[in-house]
Amino acid sequence: MNIRPATPTDIPGIVALVNDHVRRGDLLPRTPESIEATLDDWLVGVHADGGVIACVSLLFYTPVLAEVRSLAVHDRVKGEGWGSAIVRVLVEEARQRGVPMLFALTRAVRFFQQVGFFVTSKDLFPEKVYRDCVQCPIFDNCDETAVIMRLHPSASTDLTPAEQKVIRVARLTRSTTIPVAAIQPPTQTAIIRELTLADYDAVYALWQACEGVGLGDSDSREQITFFLQRNPGLSFVAEVNGRLIGTILGAHDGRRGYVHHLAVHNDFRRQGVARALAEQCQAALKAQGILKCHLFVFNDNERAQAFWRSVGWYDRDDLHMMSLFLE
Ligand SMILES: CC(C)(COP(=O)(O)OP(=O)(O)OC[C@H]1O[C@@H](n2cnc3c(N)ncnc32)[C@H](O)[C@@H]1OP(=O)(O)O)[C@@H](O)C(=O)NCCC(=O)NCCS
Repeated sequence: MNIRPATPTDIPGIVALVNDHVRRGDLLPRTPESIEATLDDWLVGVHADGGVIACVSLLFYTPVLAEVRSLAVHDRVKGEGWGSAIVRVLVEEARQRGVPMLFALTRAVRFFQQVGFFVTSKDLFPEKVYRDCVQCPIFDNCDETAVIMRLHPSASTDLTPAEQKVIRVARLTRSTTIPVAAIQPPTQTAIIRELTLADYDAVYALWQACEGVGLGDSDSREQITFFLQRNPGLSFVAEVNGRLIGTILGAHDGRRGYVHHLAVHNDFRRQGVARALAEQCQAALKAQGILKCHLFVFNDNERAQAFWRSVGWYDRDDLHMMSLFLE
């Protein structure tokens, strides 16, 4: 069986396979853009004739918890073992990336049990249900079951307190679509959601339009892809009626958190959007165990300095910043 990481040329085949299962109510829809933005996290099974006949993806909630999703096998090869084979490769991929726990919400409970998952309570995953399942036509009558797999040996099917904490943290960091401010005119509401690569063009355009955001090589699509993969769940955007009006990038090195590129569109300033973005990013960093954060503001950017002071950050005059290009 030819199972391998997905490439851009597989995207139409993946979309066709997933959408075939969407029509039957088995999967949630995926757009070509959302697949492209997460392509590194997809595997495909390829038939001898070159067609995509199986697919699956990993969605990272945090570096220590990922969801197995969009698992689909083409009708013409059902029953031939492609499903279990592709999930096993995905599990191995997750193991190599150091993810200790995987989960899925599924109707194919016996299938997942056969490949090593065990049933757990769906109540553990309310944000998953909130974020994804609300789009589902059978949301009110959902018959899916939550299954979980540890990637380290353990005989118990009860989650330890530490494992429950991993899931709680993931819930905090991925929580999205939060009404943050009554934007003028008052009929509009801003929401905060996680920034994904699919937002890149709109995000970059906003940064270019905002004085005070220093742009350089690290802001190319390639570098931002690298940044988001290394720091999942820590960067957010603000949106009003689908229009992207604010951004914040969050990261940490395991010891200190870092915040970059807080920006709010000129038309939406002084309405609490930056405050909401900062609070969301700070909560996500805290949930990942970070105790203290740093950020960099240009000396002449008094507006941003005033903003950061107003949300509790303090000036450092005991430190001198230094930099080095590594190329
Ligand atoms: C700095 C910036 C992000 C603030 O965004 P915002 O959405 O307008 O900020 P908020 O409405 O959440 O402001 C919260 C508080 O911060 C303070 N603040 C915000 N902007 C301020 C300003 N221009 N002058 C003084 N205080 C300000 C106020 O105390 C404000 O509360 P108030 O409006 O009730 O008085 C926005 O001006 C911006 O995008 N600037 C350009 C990009 C930039 O410089 N980014 C910083 C990189 S580190």
